[in-house]
Amino acid sequence: MNAAPKKNGVEELRAALAESRTAFIAIGIFSFFVNLLVLTGSLYSLQVYDRVLTSRSEPTLVVLTLLLVALYAIMGVLDHMRGRLAARVGARFQANLETRVFRIVTDRTMLASQGINASMAMRDLDSIQRALSSPAAFAVFDIPWTPVFVVIIFIFHPLMGVIALIGGLILIALTILNQRGTKDDQEKALNAGRLSEEMTGTLQREADTVRALGMRSSTATRWKGLREDSLAANIHYSDNNGFYSITSKTFRIFLQSGILGAGAWLAIQGHITSGAMLASSIIIGRALSPIEQVIGQWAMVQRAMQGWKSLADILAKVPPEAPRTMLPRPRAILDVQNISVVPPGERVPTLRNLSFELRPGQALGVIGQSGSGKSTLARVLTGVWPIQAGKVRLDGASIEQYSVDDLADYVGYLPQDVVLFEGTIAENIARLALEPDSEKVVSAAQKAAAHDLVLRLANGYDTRLPAQGQRLSGGQKQRIGLARALYADPVLLVLDEPNANLDAEGSMALNIAIRNAKKEGRSVVIMAHRPAAIEECDLILILEGGNRVAFGPRDEVLKQHLKNYNSIGQGGQPGGAQPPAPTTSTPPSGPVGPQRGPAGNVALPGILGTGLLSGHGGMVSGTKRLGGPAQPPKDGKPAGTNAETDSKTDTSGDDAAKPGNGGDK
Ligand SMILES: Nc1ncnc2c1ncn2[C@@H]1O[C@H](COP(=O)(O)OP(=O)(O)OP(=O)(O)O)[C@@H](O)[C@H]1O
Ligand SMILES: [Mg+2]
Repeated sequence: MNAAPKKNGVEELRAALAESRTAFIAIGIFSFFVNLLVLTGSLYSLQVYDRVLTSRSEPTLVVLTLLLVALYAIMGVLDHMRGRLAARVGARFQANLETRVFRIVTDRTMLASQGINASMAMRDLDSIQRALSSPAAFAVFDIPWTPVFVVIIFIFHPLMGVIALIGGLILIALTILNQRGTKDDQEKALNAGRLSEEMTGTLQREADTVRALGMRSSTATRWKGLREDSLAANIHYSDNNGFYSITSKTFRIFLQSGILGAGAWLAIQGHITSGAMLASSIIIGRALSPIEQVIGQWAMVQRAMQGWKSLADILAKVPPEAPRTMLPRPRAILDVQNISVVPPGERVPTLRNLSFELRPGQALGVIGQSGSGKSTLARVLTGVWPIQAGKVRLDGASIEQYSVDDLADYVGYLPQDVVLFEGTIAENIARLALEPDSEKVVSAAQKAAAHDLVLRLANGYDTRLPAQGQRLSGGQKQRIGLARALYADPVLLVLDEPNANLDAEGSMALNIAIRNAKKEGRSVVIMAHRPAAIEECDLILILEGGNRVAFGPRDEVLKQHLKNYNSIGQGGQPGGAQPPAPTTSTPPSGPVGPQRGPAGNVALPGILGTGLLSGHGGMVSGTKRLGGPAQPPKDGKPAGTNAETDSKTDTSGDDAAKPGNGGDK
């Protein structure tokens, strides 16, 4: 089972390499001539010893020397040319695979759920590129010449040939020993290096927290520990590798002299000329130098070989995205059918057998305690996390049927932790498009009721943010995040705790944005702790430990789950059928829609009565708390049994759940 996909990964790597076929052929031809010309030195010494010195002819020496200069010059040029070609082969190989590997690396969460660790894939690719561009790559073209050179030495004299052969075999044995002896060390050094680098990155990003919490010395100690591990592993590796590379180098030099000695003895015996003696010594040096070079650069070669193996593995496991038939823009009909979800790399599901439906113009509030699975649901609806069982359908098509990019356009997502990227506000709203469409950017900001807020910033839409958007407050980030979610004109909006950082004005603006989205026929899913956020919701889904406790029209669900529901009724009518608010894109100065207290927030501490949202009753200042009597103890029955209002017909059949103007867009 495993072998087949692996082959595909290797094939993909080979195909990327094969695009440089012509360059390889050229390198091969250059190498042929370079290796032929390597013989120049030995031929020269042969001629000088055996002709010039015996004939004492100076003109011959001059001519031979001129020839030598010319041939060496040609060799130098060819050697340089193949170096340039190799650099380009490496670069092209990298360019061919870069985007694909980048996609894989940025899809890490998805892969982690399949047990694939792609964190090193980019470095694997870099390591192959480095090795391809290095002189070690020529060794591949030079090593086949080693036997040829040995044969030439045999021709001079078999005894010298045997010495060369044995010497070569010893060097090859050293190469194998080196590989065996240093493999684990290198892996250790690599891992230790990666861990310390990752920690450096985290500490840099979270420098403020580290400082404020007085974690500087503890983090420094931990960091130093990791660095020491990395250094120790590296030193161990370089000691080992150094031993082999120095041994092979010394041995080669010794062999050169050894052959000279043997040649001298043969010359004394009259078996060979002194020219042949010197030539053999030069040739053996050259014949064995590619092997020595490989051992000398073994760290790089080994890393590249490892990189090749693991990259082939990852490529095989993550086949390129198959082109999908483009589906028409979906209507805002969301069907979640019996989904179960296990977070990447985990075993226990955090959502179990969950179903619900949402129609155009409807907003669904998802509430539940911390860890009940709200964000998990958000990640599933946006296609970020895979589903273990069941289906999420958008207008009939399961979300995997949409291409990743299309789905991102159709499903606008505001994550719980909004991270903005390095760039201007406009670029961030436009999702880092290279040329943000100003009209769309402003319109998205207006829809998110964030336009005024952006204008108040120093340079308005052109205010430049550093990485992570650190220049902005939590609330500002959240509102710009909402504009970003709306940029691509989504049919479904998934807002994870959209008002966690918002003040009263921000909450109001958010509610206007949600109301407008509903009017435009979008459907909205809001994960919330803060009651103000579910003001605009027609439906409520209550989660507990990943299970659906209740689902249905908001009033009904709240009625059954809030012991003090009536007291909320006094503060405002939490009915689903609310009069439509004026379509305005900027936050109004006063409360909008049904009066919800001074800040437009309705506190729903009554949910605490069901055991849900406990500990999250805290409201923004100025919010009117509409708490009923003190929290009643949880009744004996499980919450889901008496309050199950989840039949699907409920959702469409109840007036309260019906969208005011839920037409298709
Ligand atoms: N990346 C992750 N890897 C593994 N487990 C995770 C991951 N993210 C969340 N979980 C687990 O999934 C469960 C549900 O988490 P989730 O983030 O969906 O809760 P939530 O309802 O959004 O909570 P909160 O209200 O605090 O945001 C938790 O038990 C959590 O530990
Ligand atoms: Mg959450």
